[in-house]
Amino acid sequence: MAQVKIIAVTGATGAQGGGVVNILKKTPGWRVRAITRNPDSDAAKALAADGTVEVVRADWDDEDSLAAAFSGAAAVFAVTNWWEPFLFGGKTAWEAGEIEERHGMNLARAAARTPSLEHYLWSTLPGAKQRFLGKGGLEVPHMDYKAIVDARIREELPALAAKTTYLYFGYYPQNIAYVPMMKPFEHPGTGQYIQLVASDSQAKLLLAGDMAVNPGIWVRQVLATGPAAFGKYTNVALERWSVQQMLDKWSEVTGKRGVVVQITEEAWARLWGPVGTELAWQFKFVELCDPFEVGDDFISPEELGIDASEVVGFEGTIRGLASKGLLV
Ligand SMILES: NC(=O)c1ccc[n+]([C@@H]2O[C@H](COP(=O)([O-])OP(=O)(O)OC[C@H]3O[C@@H](n4cnc5c(N)ncnc54)[C@H](OP(=O)(O)O)[C@@H]3O)[C@@H](O)[C@H]2O)c1
Repeated sequence: MAQVKIIAVTGATGAQGGGVVNILKKTPGWRVRAITRNPDSDAAKALAADGTVEVVRADWDDEDSLAAAFSGAAAVFAVTNWWEPFLFGGKTAWEAGEIEERHGMNLARAAARTPSLEHYLWSTLPGAKQRFLGKGGLEVPHMDYKAIVDARIREELPALAAKTTYLYFGYYPQNIAYVPMMKPFEHPGTGQYIQLVASDSQAKLLLAGDMAVNPGIWVRQVLATGPAAFGKYTNVALERWSVQQMLDKWSEVTGKRGVVVQITEEAWARLWGPVGTELAWQFKFVELCDPFEVGDDFISPEELGIDASEVVGFEGTIRGLASKGLLV
């Protein structure tokens, strides 16, 4: 009988890691070790409930706790969360970035210390600061600091880099249901819904699709691909849609009239504060270039053996949300 390998999944109680757990726990040949700061939380207990997933405590702030949690693992899915210190810890965008960089490097160093490790999967994003350096300048801290970790893995941990695949997650369709700034709202008494943006509503965004399944599909296929995916980037997505296209689909699904209205970055920042500014810069990045442009260092969905019929895109995701009463 083939040996069962362990994949240690960080962020397992969250969107990305949760999506990885959902698929990998049903993938023959793999056993999931879910990592959380708090195995007693309801989310962690739900992961452990059916007995197929081992739940282990570790903290991105503590490299030794991560190394212990990775012990014996053949694969690690590593993700960080720039938003937590920014939204809930009172940190500036750049301070949150420094925390994210520290977490990203703790994860990478702990993985490099794991003798059993065959494949490291790092969830990252392209950096705007790096791309626009000397070209007018643009910063998107929640993307830039992840890209710094990519470069540091290659420079400081070449043996780990040699078995790393870099995953770019697109914009989550779920944002239209859960992120207040991205929810359409009704102009009172008119039945007309409005979605505000601070950038060109026709600019195309990379969409991650359903976070409950797509992250796991990509991770399963990257692992099955093995060495051919080492050192490569992959977009965890098959769709690129504009905000207008997303709202048109939202209108079709909900039966409500929706229109996208572009406002200035200043007005957007006055409405939403620093969180709005961060998102406005992200959308500006997408307006100015294609941050997720496929280059020589990419491995394609076809090469990974991604079956498009298994992937759940924007429409499937929001139809699922609507069926649970979670869309406006
Ligand atoms: N929203 C989007 O459209 C989008 C698109 C692409 C990329 N992203 C990126 O996605 C990342 C967040 O991933 P997500 O959406 O999966 O997050 P999420 O759903 O908010 O969940 C956060 C996860 O991080 C874990 N965590 C937080 N701090 C930790 C620590 N110090 N040690 C160990 N675990 C910790 C939490 O685990 P416990 O609480 O159980 O410990 C939880 O599982 C962000 O960096 C964001 O930039 C978002």
